[in-house]
Amino acid sequence: MKNLLLIVGLSVLIISCREDNQNDKISISKNTQNEMAKIGQQQEGKKLFKQYCMACHFIKPDPSKRDQMTAPPIIRVVQHYKGTHSERKDFVNAVVNWANKPNNDAVLMPGATRKFGLMPPMPIGNKKLEKIADYLFDANFEKFGNFKHKNHRKANFKQIEKQTLDTKDINQLHQAVSLLQKSNLQSPSAYRQMGEKVFKIAKNILLNKNYEGKTLQQIQMFFHQIEEDMHRLMSVKNNNEGEKYRKIVLKKLQKFDEFFIPKE
Ligand code: HEC
Repeated sequence: MKNLLLIVGLSVLIISCREDNQNDKISISKNTQNEMAKIGQQQEGKKLFKQYCMACHFIKPDPSKRDQMTAPPIIRVVQHYKGTHSERKDFVNAVVNWANKPNNDAVLMPGATRKFGLMPPMPIGNKKLEKIADYLFDANFEKFGNFKHKNHRKANFKQIEKQTLDTKDINQLHQAVSLLQKSNLQSPSAYRQMGEKVFKIAKNILLNKNYEGKTLQQIQMFFHQIEEDMHRLMSVKNNNEGEKYRKIVLKKLQKFDEFFIPKE
């Protein structure tokens, strides 16, 4: 009887072990399948990106090919888009909407628009665009190094003389500053709206065709060092973050009058 019990007990143990093993096997192979599907999608996204986007977008900035550049390097595009849309879904939507219909309202990189002109629409279908955007979201561009603009730009900045801007633009900028002075807003979305309004004002100045040469250069330099913070303000997730970026953008934007004066 004892022996029988032992045998039954052992076989139950063995069977349950086997089942466990089988479950493991199933779950491993499911994971592997998912992984493989993901890699497959990634590769398709990469292929589509090469096919449709790389005619104009290099992956990274390359000083030796500066003259051949007809669009911002994609590594910068991704930096800007991720800075503003940290969730995959938002990021993918933003890229898909953009590629279908590039327009000044949606521009996140007004410096690039000014330099290269607006991108032509790429209506290749949302499925393909989603795959491309998914690939861009995951692509590990870090391995190309961190391409933050160098600080030497900032150093030159101080020596430059004040540039004259349209009075309208100066007034708008002052409005943005007073907007940013409202502290302790109710919700993260109120901060995001604040960020959007301020960015829109900055964008209008950056895209104003009246400015050229030295003036345009100074405008681009000025906004360049705030751009990332404005994008962060446009995508804050809580009030603390909102306050943090509100203060940073305010502090930087308040320096505007040190660099620009209104036309008489
Ligand atoms: C014919 C050239 C060309 C092709 C092809 C092209 N782009 Fe662009 N793209 C540009 C230029 C020029 C800009 C910068 C000016 C601007 O923002 O409109 C740009 C900017 C962008 C931006 C940033 C827009 C912003 O907010 O300022 C995104 C995102 C982008 N491209 C995605 C894509 C994707 C995805 C593809 C492929 C489906 C693609 N582009 C193909 C020329 C191109």
